[in-house]
Amino acid sequence: MSLSVAVILSEDIVMKYSIALLRGDGIGPEIVDSAVRVLEAVGKKYGHEFNFTPYDIGGIAIDKHGIPLPEETVEGCLKADSVLLGAVGGPKWDTLPGNVRPEKALLGIRAAMNLFTNLRPAKLYPALKGECPLREDIVERGFDIMIVRELTGGIYFGERGMREGRFGEEAYDTECYSRMEIERIVRVAFESARKRSKRLVSIDKANVLDTSRLWRKIVHEIAAEYPDVEVADMLVDNAAMQLVRNPAQFDVIVTTNMFGDILSDEASQITGSIGMLPSASLNETTRGLYEPIHGSAPDIAGQNKANPIATILSAAMMLLYSFNLKKESDAIVNAVDEVLLAGYRTADLAHGAEALSTTEITDKIIERI
Ligand code: IPM
Ligand code: MG
Repeated sequence: MSLSVAVILSEDIVMKYSIALLRGDGIGPEIVDSAVRVLEAVGKKYGHEFNFTPYDIGGIAIDKHGIPLPEETVEGCLKADSVLLGAVGGPKWDTLPGNVRPEKALLGIRAAMNLFTNLRPAKLYPALKGECPLREDIVERGFDIMIVRELTGGIYFGERGMREGRFGEEAYDTECYSRMEIERIVRVAFESARKRSKRLVSIDKANVLDTSRLWRKIVHEIAAEYPDVEVADMLVDNAAMQLVRNPAQFDVIVTTNMFGDILSDEASQITGSIGMLPSASLNETTRGLYEPIHGSAPDIAGQNKANPIATILSAAMMLLYSFNLKKESDAIVNAVDEVLLAGYRTADLAHGAEALSTTEITDKIIERI
């Protein structure tokens, strides 16, 4: 790993970590700034130094540089120890062609950093049980799911285009997965299952798609290397239904880029709010990219109203997965738990009752670090 030099100060070793900040658009800057403040509090308490360097991405990069992912941003991310991202996109850039849209930058940075693994944990916080839209008996069983989403392949990156077809003008996108791409993500999922409850569900559409049939075959080949992990296949349409019928049945889920995109939004809603779900995008090194799973929420941007918890929890994932700082990561997760248990809520979870602002809930979290 490429961590910067350790400086010896009296008895203590102060570790220095460089973090590239991609604030992006909409609520991105506000929620990233909250996570930065939380990281600074962690650094102060545990004696680490986090250095932040901002780079433009998404709509703001289009405005300033004419492209959503400037070279300087890619280089900055590749030389940092890790990357924290807010969100990209907004109505201002919605009518631009596909290859210069803000979202293209997300795909670009994922590809440039080879972030083929996307971990999206979705768990029901006891304090937020009342927010879960499911029936009470389902809520009582709770759930704690780790979605392992393939992130640099599939239909997001397949051959695409426009052409003249049988019915005239047509557009196409293709789903393509190589054995190598499937094997490496499936292995990550088995490893993750091994560290959790040893149950893995692989989600595909093998009754229709060839890519899914190859996926399923490889899952079973690799399963032989993990006899201690119980693995089951599930079709994606059934999985969408099972997630709301009985989410407690899932522990680790592994799936393709697009199925993972869709199912993780569904999973986030049953935790109470999409404002709660963090994510880690990883490659084979320790340099990862951490971002909330939600978007840039342009309707509430700049109003100090957004829920920063998904981004703060993404920073906690960075401490764990990139820097191996478990107790520091736990300190953030526990502080969030305590704040929720104490009844503090941002507007997305307040049902019109009085809510804390982005900065206020961040302060509450920092007080508990
Ligand atoms: C996500 C988002 C992105 C995706 C979009 C904004 C490109 O929905 O991270 O889930 O589809 O991967
Ligand atoms: Mg999504």
